[in-house]
Amino acid sequence: MCGIIGYTGNENAVPKITKGLSVLEYRGYDSVGIAARTGNGIETVKCRGRIGALEEKLEANPITDCSCAIGHTRWATHGGPSDINAHPHRAGRVVLVHNGIIENYKELKSEMSAKGDRFLSETDTEVAAAVLNDEYGKLGTPAEAIRKAIARMTGSYAFGILFEDLPGEVWAVRCGSPLILAKGTDGYYLASDMTALLPFTKEYHCLEEGQLAHLTPNSAELITADGETVTPTWSVTAMTPESAQKGGYPHFMLKEIYEQPEAIVKSVSPRIKGGLPDFSADGISPDFWAKVKNIQIVACGSATHAGLVGGRILEQVAQVPTSSYIASEYRYHPPLAVDGTLVVVISQSGETADTLAALRYAKQKGLPTLAIVNAVETTIAREADYRIYTYAGPEIAVATTKGYCTQVSVLYMIAAAIAHSCGRICEADAKELVRSVLEDAPVAIHQMLEQTDALRRMAGDICHHEHVFYIGRGLDYAMSQEASLKLKEISYIHCEAYAAGELKHGTISLIEEGTPVIAISTEAALYDKTESNVREVYSRGARVILICRDDAKNPQASADDVILLPTTSGAATLFAALAAVQVLAYETAVLRGCDIDRPRNLAKSVTVE
Ligand code: G6P
Repeated sequence: MCGIIGYTGNENAVPKITKGLSVLEYRGYDSVGIAARTGNGIETVKCRGRIGALEEKLEANPITDCSCAIGHTRWATHGGPSDINAHPHRAGRVVLVHNGIIENYKELKSEMSAKGDRFLSETDTEVAAAVLNDEYGKLGTPAEAIRKAIARMTGSYAFGILFEDLPGEVWAVRCGSPLILAKGTDGYYLASDMTALLPFTKEYHCLEEGQLAHLTPNSAELITADGETVTPTWSVTAMTPESAQKGGYPHFMLKEIYEQPEAIVKSVSPRIKGGLPDFSADGISPDFWAKVKNIQIVACGSATHAGLVGGRILEQVAQVPTSSYIASEYRYHPPLAVDGTLVVVISQSGETADTLAALRYAKQKGLPTLAIVNAVETTIAREADYRIYTYAGPEIAVATTKGYCTQVSVLYMIAAAIAHSCGRICEADAKELVRSVLEDAPVAIHQMLEQTDALRRMAGDICHHEHVFYIGRGLDYAMSQEASLKLKEISYIHCEAYAAGELKHGTISLIEEGTPVIAISTEAALYDKTESNVREVYSRGARVILICRDDAKNPQASADDVILLPTTSGAATLFAALAAVQVLAYETAVLRGCDIDRPRNLAKSVTVE
């Protein structure tokens, strides 16, 4: 949710900032800007639109002689997308970019207006700049001014800051929103995440909560909340610049769909020892699992859906009562915890504000917490008591695919670990479950991806409709919710997921001649019942696509189109269905000419509540 980048060093800063911003666009893409330190002071160029719009402006009026700059790509919160509301914002000697929300900005704005400040934009960011400029005027030292200014603000934020009278210096602070520093051979960098800096360097340091950073062309120092100055500890990322590129695919989403088999193997194989689930490398012992009596899964968006699927698997396999909650609701109606409750938070980005708030709430209540996270060393990963990384690699498309897929695969492994530790399944069954996820699921996804032509043909019909329904029972209802979200978020078609048996209790009235209904049926035991529901809509004129097991009897009888899923194992069938609905959403969005990787109004990393 908004991307920040900064650089100071001995090379031209402008191409670095624009290149980094193009990677950070997944965090927001409604406006973009740069503040560049030149011989004439700080020049700001910003506009509504994406990086291309900024590059056009910079081409028309090039900024030369600049080796220190900050940049920003925005997902609007306060004030709509416009040239004026775009970052950076200036107040007096302060120019800053911001990720997050200043919750008390109205009070601060009135205070600063009473002192004579005039505001051009509707943003909370411009108010933050005014407050910092006020403190800088009073105190004269940047570190103290930043400290005093943030003490006046509430909310969550990260700032990248230039001061008019401090050439070559980039300042930054983080309170609730992510920021990392990086060290290159050509200077020092700042960014909301490491993927933006992969073209330049691999050495990074994650800023701690409340820490200030001070970068010059030759140095980087941190100032802790206690005012102590320390040097960063640099780590080396395992990510490569290629991992954040399309690699010949037309869209990141498609690339990431195809990366799923490998992502499952990477996420699951480090958790297997002697064919059995083993999380000791994650610091989790069989004893830990054996103490778990109840699980609360908390997440947002697709990660919630992974929790719904995982919850059912945990109950079926490990026989642990599990419920899944939307993170933004969790604090307001917290479920009752019992002795042995484990709170599992799931987040691809590791920075989702609602999930983080729920995690902090659970910790405050004294509950043990475990985070399933993809992006390493992110806030959620660091704050949870235990963490399991999914190793899906960088996920760039806003609509998650491999992130979700690896979350489900890790939940399978947790279910197997608990079931085995508690003696609820025998060793042979635990081994078979692990094997099915590690071996069958990747093969099944590959097999499904070979059916892309058929899925594209079905998408050719779906793309003309404004309303689509997904139905399923049990695990497939949980899966339908993710399938429905995938379709609506990237193709803008209204799509609802219904428990197949529930449709007749109201929603079936919406079925008209030709309304697409996509039914998912991966569980053999539920096939007949789901098939009855399919017949109910088929006989009322729905255009039915049935995604079902390859051993289903005569599925063509009640469907216009059938996608057959491999039945090598339960995991194989489930993951194949996942790939099918992902491709269906993708192809539909392509046919509708949508911006697949950057759907309107969305951002991948949502760091505001
Ligand atoms: C945003 C994204 C969703 C994602 C959700 C949770 O809303 O658009 O695709 O599922 O955040 O993100 P997380 O990074 O916590 O998994």
